[in-house]
Amino acid sequence: MNIVILSSTEEIAKAAADLYTNLLADKPNAVLGLATGSSPVPVYDELIRRYEAEEVSFKDATAFLLDEYVGLPKGHPESYAEFIKRVFVSKVDFSDGAVNGPDGNASNPKKAADEYEEKIVASGGVDLQILGIGTDGHIAFNEPGGSLASTTHTQVLTEQTRVDNARFFDGDINQVPRFCLTQGLATIGRAKSVVLVAQGEQKADAVAALVEGGVSALWPASVLQFHNDATILVDEAAASKLKLKDYYRAAYEGEQALSALED
Ligand code: F6R
Repeated sequence: MNIVILSSTEEIAKAAADLYTNLLADKPNAVLGLATGSSPVPVYDELIRRYEAEEVSFKDATAFLLDEYVGLPKGHPESYAEFIKRVFVSKVDFSDGAVNGPDGNASNPKKAADEYEEKIVASGGVDLQILGIGTDGHIAFNEPGGSLASTTHTQVLTEQTRVDNARFFDGDINQVPRFCLTQGLATIGRAKSVVLVAQGEQKADAVAALVEGGVSALWPASVLQFHNDATILVDEAAASKLKLKDYYRAAYEGEQALSALED
């Protein structure tokens, strides 16, 4: 795992955007994994800025969302399909139909989960997946206690996640759906690279468990310890409970020095 402690949200956004920009320069038809929630929004803002400056294009790329609520009416502004359209996809040049998400209105959600998994596999797999992390350590909507080997599945949201997400639903937990469709931990683990972004003190416990805890269903993000190309971009507050902070800083500087020696 590559742990990078940065001093601001802007720096995190630029570092994550660099990964997307570099990937698309090498592979314009890359398969991108997109997350919703607040954490990646500054990354999308930076990518929009670069698109407007003609520094990056998404026209040949495809994308897969991580997750979707079950049962919100089609077009609901807080459905993840609408959210990602509003904050990112409508502001850059993805082709029509290039951005996929699980079907939260399917009459058979479990079948929809299987179909979504198959679609990701058929695309050749995600090249670069961006992730946020829940205060309870979830990634996508893989809540504590689930299988570390899960593929796309239906999930009952925890009370904690519904409380956290009530801010998108007029502060009313009763409006937050109880169920969702989510890529599984194995699905995410198959992405060739992942970049997780976390800001703020409220993420500090989850980040410490992700990076330095035992790999455990109690902290689903900890499964990323098994990923061989995972970058964790955190601000000082989110990093505040990491025991090996000084080493991560030294290792990051050292890696940059080593990269400068490459051809
Ligand atoms: C959203 C998602 C979730 C969020 C997580 C953190 O697609 O997969 O795992 O990343 O709930 O949300 P924020 O960033 O709003 O704190």
